[in-house]
Amino acid sequence: MASSLLNGAENLTLIRNITPSPKGLGFLRSDLNGIKFSKLKSVTHAKISIKSTKHRITHIPRCSISTSRPASQLRFIQHKKEAFWFYRFLSIVYDHVINPGHWTEDMRDDALEPADLNSPDLTVVDVGGGTGFTTLGIVKHVDAKNVTILDQSPHQLAKAKEKEPLKECKIIEGDAEDLSFETDYADRYISAGSIEYWPDPQRGIKEAYRVLKLGGKACLIGPVHPTFWLSRFFADAWMLFPKEEEYIDWFEKAGFKDVQLKRIGPKWYRGVRRHGLIMGCSVTGVKPASGDSPLQLGPKEEDVSKPVNPVVFFMRFLLGAMAATYYVLVPIYMWLKDQIVPKGQPI
Ligand SMILES: C[S@@+](CC[C@H](N)C(=O)[O-])C[C@H]1O[C@@H](n2cnc3c(N)ncnc32)[C@H](O)[C@@H]1O
Repeated sequence: MASSLLNGAENLTLIRNITPSPKGLGFLRSDLNGIKFSKLKSVTHAKISIKSTKHRITHIPRCSISTSRPASQLRFIQHKKEAFWFYRFLSIVYDHVINPGHWTEDMRDDALEPADLNSPDLTVVDVGGGTGFTTLGIVKHVDAKNVTILDQSPHQLAKAKEKEPLKECKIIEGDAEDLSFETDYADRYISAGSIEYWPDPQRGIKEAYRVLKLGGKACLIGPVHPTFWLSRFFADAWMLFPKEEEYIDWFEKAGFKDVQLKRIGPKWYRGVRRHGLIMGCSVTGVKPASGDSPLQLGPKEEDVSKPVNPVVFFMRFLLGAMAATYYVLVPIYMWLKDQIVPKGQPI
């Protein structure tokens, strides 16, 4: 059963059906190399279903919540200014270096499937839309003139502007944590591979809730945290790789209902998740009432108007960029393993 689960691992969907408890919520661990479900601390009773096209298994763990990682961890590029400069340079090669290793067209289409892009007339916002790679998947289903790409990096947006299928999209600069759209504006909120740079991800998800219309759907695609120690070291030095349970928690706190998480990953990883994934899951939630999110938040985590110490900034940028290099090597390593290890065996 474990091997057949492994085969279906890329298409797994994690569905929440959880009995509320004042003590916490129930979750699964994301290390899928051996599909481990049991290393969870006992907190509460929760019912979790994992669904693939072939299998549906319901676990009722005795337990479970893993605590969020402390905000004090390094994450050198999980800052707006550092991310701005990171993409100043990465935008030059982004479509050629990042996408083939971490974010392929089939992964993108798989990740967008839960967003229910079921009409060309939908109003869609693509937040952290960058060079428009995900937007290219959106405009397969939705009329480009109804789609807005928002990003804080003009350098990334310049690449999106060059793409013919995106010519009719609105393309604007902005901050994911402080969106310029009015409340109850969009039918769909999409954000792929951007949350990892937001200093305050909960604030960004609260904004997703606000800008959606009643019954609108948010689809947030992002990384998952590694369990292998070396990968965890570099991931945590680079940026935010949330745990699956953190995504679900942020969505629920923002007020979303019917929160679901679908696991994604490059085919040649054969479902392995121990190194983490830069695009590892697609989380969706439905807005149940019009207006702003019921969640109240304090002041912003990062005030971009405040001056920064240039030496500290430079060191953060340099160390973060060096840590990111590790994640250029991981997909190559996994690809080689996939070529060498006989099919059907775990890698
Ligand atoms: C990995 S790229 C993803 C681009 C695109 N969504 C895709 O699927 O290829 C991350 C993008 O998030 C943007 N970004 C980071 N922090 C942001 C913020 N606070 N507000 C808006 N965009 C942000 C970056 O500029 C970058 O273009």
